[in-house]
Amino acid sequence: MKVLAIETTCDETAAAVVERGPVVLSDVVYSQIEEHAPFGGVVPEIASRSHVEQLTAVIEEALTRAQLHPCDLDAIAVAHRPGLIGALMIGVTTAKALAWSWDLPIIGVHHLQAHLEAAALAGEEISTPYLGVVISGGHTDMHRVEEAGRSRWLGGTRDDALGEAFDKVAAVLGLGYPGGPAVERAALQGNPKALRLPRTLLAKDSLDFSFSGIKTAVLYRWRGPNATYPGRAPGAPEPQDICAAFQEAVFDVLAEKIRRACTQESLCEVVLGGGVTANQALRQGLAQRLGNQFRLVFPPLQFATDNAAMIGALALRRLEDGHRDDLELVAEAQP
Ligand code: KG4
Ligand code: ZN
Repeated sequence: MKVLAIETTCDETAAAVVERGPVVLSDVVYSQIEEHAPFGGVVPEIASRSHVEQLTAVIEEALTRAQLHPCDLDAIAVAHRPGLIGALMIGVTTAKALAWSWDLPIIGVHHLQAHLEAAALAGEEISTPYLGVVISGGHTDMHRVEEAGRSRWLGGTRDDALGEAFDKVAAVLGLGYPGGPAVERAALQGNPKALRLPRTLLAKDSLDFSFSGIKTAVLYRWRGPNATYPGRAPGAPEPQDICAAFQEAVFDVLAEKIRRACTQESLCEVVLGGGVTANQALRQGLAQRLGNQFRLVFPPLQFATDNAAMIGALALRRLEDGHRDDLELVAEAQP
């Protein structure tokens, strides 16, 4: 069984062919980073237009690399929520047109659930129930997952998502966009003990997150109290030290919330996904803090940030369960 999967929820135009296993037969990602970089973040209108321009070629490339024709496919899968509504509509409309013209079933896939499916692309055995932790540019969520696609939300961010906090820290320090990789690179040269940043843990048993406090703390450490200076304040810490201290603080918070969730839900298996899991220091930091208590499963690096292979992997599971959508499928911005 093989699916062609399409991903256009934000600023990556992606298509992949995935076979039952899951085995990734092809994986093509066109990143729009260069188009958004001059604006310091994703511009929704530019994202939609770029998807229109790139998607057909990306799909053709995915089929060519997999050495397949449309008649070899069993379904079209598409990430239909959540995301930027204009961007989602391009993927969903294209998927529907292909499903109709090639006479194939269509499957709508939840982008965040698919992030947790990315770990399965490493061939890791994952036993349910597990704690699913999605840390991306738009979400920081923990779920109790009973089986792929069936889960209960346990908690999430009350303000900024963790990826968003990385991006904002990078913006404050002038490290450029996208911020996550820039902060990770800078932190490699930094001393995490040079300054201490706040760890917001909320109520004793809370499984929610808040990252706006640490973001503001970084702003004040860099530009002085109440951001008095337009740029770096006299005596401000070195940017690489701020990045290292920021990472240490958010790893502490993540580890504590994961520990709480596992304890409250009696879980010992933790599956992580989303763009921030591309951060190697995060993988090591969580392994150091939690590795002797829980089994941590990360996605292969290439499938940590947005891609279509994870969409295909979850779609295959749902196809096997007998699930099909129809041409009434709609794009939805909200989870
Ligand atoms: O999952 P993703 O590709 O897209 C969304 O679904 O949002 O996540 C993108 C986020 C961005 O905020 C980006 O800065 C962050 O993931 N990110 C990282 C790293 N690579 C990407 N954050 C920290 N360290 C990284 N190496
Ligand atoms: Zn994502």
